[in-house]
Amino acid sequence: MKRNNLLNYEEIDDLHSEFLEIYNSVDLLDINSYIQKLISLLEHSKVHFKIEEDLMDKYNYPAKREHKDEHQKVLAEMEYFIKSSNSLFGKKMLKAYFKEKLGDWFDLHLISMDSDLTAY
Ligand SMILES: [Fe+2]
Ligand SMILES: [Fe+2]
Repeated sequence: MKRNNLLNYEEIDDLHSEFLEIYNSVDLLDINSYIQKLISLLEHSKVHFKIEEDLMDKYNYPAKREHKDEHQKVLAEMEYFIKSSNSLFGKKMLKAYFKEKLGDWFDLHLISMDSDLTAY
């Protein structure tokens, strides 16, 4: 995860800092902690994305369709891995998603779509 995640738009920067705080607070030795943190991140992201999407609508942001689709996609992924986490296999898949994909997704989304939105 990147350390410098500021886009100089306070409300969104705060949401991103909170996301990273939750993400980084996972107990690496406890597989159930990954599930709990992903549930927290899902709830946090619903609020976070809604705030960004309201801004897109308010300012008629031209790339809002693509940006909203990207939000929907990652919410659906999080929901999928949470729903599948009853079995040991599902837990392992969730942990791999959390470690190998979600953090990178966040960094990439921040420097591409969110940075474009806040610049606009
Ligand atoms: Fe964001
Ligand atoms: Fe976003």
